[in-house]
Amino acid sequence: MTLTEHDIGSIEDFESGRPYSITVGGKALVLIRKGDQFFAMRDACPHAGARFSDGQVIGTSSADKPGEEIDYCRIGEIISCPWHGWEFDVTTGKSLTRPDRVRVRTYLVKVVKNRLIISQAS
Ligand code: FES
Repeated sequence: MTLTEHDIGSIEDFESGRPYSITVGGKALVLIRKGDQFFAMRDACPHAGARFSDGQVIGTSSADKPGEEIDYCRIGEIISCPWHGWEFDVTTGKSLTRPDRVRVRTYLVKVVKNRLIISQAS
């Protein structure tokens, strides 16, 4: 197995908080920026194939214990599918509701001299 690196553009080309459709090695990926962090995963929902790049980058609600105050957190780390609303953690590709069974392939995104580099196995 060899890793091929793909330069997908300057970091200034991508804003935080919105999904971008990109093609890497012939595969459709979605790229998400959260500040200085970048995440990429397959741009196809495992439920029925919608493109995540047409969805929304959001956060999620969480509480430490039942009955505790609910916080809206992890803003910019969750993507919502545009068709039926399934939500995925962009840092892991895992579904929020079935993380042990439903996930999307993720790709490592590196920043090298202000350029975004995605490594892909071939
Ligand atoms: S296609 Fe994504 S939730 Fe249905």
